[in-house]
Amino acid sequence: MHSRALFVAAVSCGLAAVDAFTKCPASSPSRAALAPPGYGKLARSSSSLLTVKMGRKPIVGGNWKCNPAETAKLPELIGNFKKCAETLDKCDVYVCPSNLHVGMVYDKFPKGIMVTPQNCNFKGCGAYTGEMAVDQMVDMGLKSCLIGHSERRGEFGLPTPKETNALLATKLDYILSKGLTCIFCIGECLPIRQKGIDAVLAECADELRDIVPILKKLEDKSRVVIAYEPVWAIGTGVTASPEQAQETHKGIRDWIAKNVDQNTADEIRIQYGGSATAANAGELAAMPDIDGFLVGGVSLKAEIADIVKAMVVAKGDSATGVSSGASKVR
Ligand code: PGA
Repeated sequence: MHSRALFVAAVSCGLAAVDAFTKCPASSPSRAALAPPGYGKLARSSSSLLTVKMGRKPIVGGNWKCNPAETAKLPELIGNFKKCAETLDKCDVYVCPSNLHVGMVYDKFPKGIMVTPQNCNFKGCGAYTGEMAVDQMVDMGLKSCLIGHSERRGEFGLPTPKETNALLATKLDYILSKGLTCIFCIGECLPIRQKGIDAVLAECADELRDIVPILKKLEDKSRVVIAYEPVWAIGTGVTASPEQAQETHKGIRDWIAKNVDQNTADEIRIQYGGSATAANAGELAAMPDIDGFLVGGVSLKAEIADIVKAMVVAKGDSATGVSSGASKVR
């Protein structure tokens, strides 16, 4: 059984080494002066040890981003997920190959590993050059799609328009309407983290507010997975401390309880992403509000299996609860 300790300490960031890619995009939406919600009761988490309900099934994803360069490397990368498939009854696993490679590899993974495109369009098939429709994913038997990664929300200086919260809500609605699960990424950049936890939670709230009506009407809450990925931790080697991550995950869950409903807060899974490795996964996974990982760099290594293992070990018997049954499908 993992730790149920309550972490409320303000944690200093220690982020001096983080590089310039962690700036907020110039056109960030207004940071509403939203106070972080009070910490209410949570299932399987935090303040009351007596309010434990059905557990949330852990979920670990690998985000290959725009890698690898050579298709010849794909068999090895796919092979790294073989071990991850051994514990799918305890931990859902998905992988996000690059757009070009999805069609090549979607049926090559061990059964139950969910191949999850890194993006989709907002509508369907038709005259949408360069886009991917969820309808196409459905036809291929895919069960999930990731959206809202900070690298698409305007971070890292991409010269493309950033994806807005409103656009991402439209995409989420579209994904769910087609029966898929959605990994919905959120997270703050370094200047916001440096202002403290209230500013971090206000930013997370900004990024979630547009999907509140969608979450409210969603029956199976496991079909939306929030991937909390602090931008300053992505690809930098600087990981949020377990206490920092727990404090933020709990704040997000409390915000959902207040702004969606308690049931959604109890059942929705919140992954941590940002320089997760086999070395730090155990401590992070032990945090009660961390339900999984979204892994970038390490998902291109055999080490990804150790991260899944750390999650299974940390959650133990509680790792079989709420899930869409995704581990039974491709
Ligand atoms: P990282 O990336 O694990 O390489 O930091 C995480 C992500 O961007 O999903």
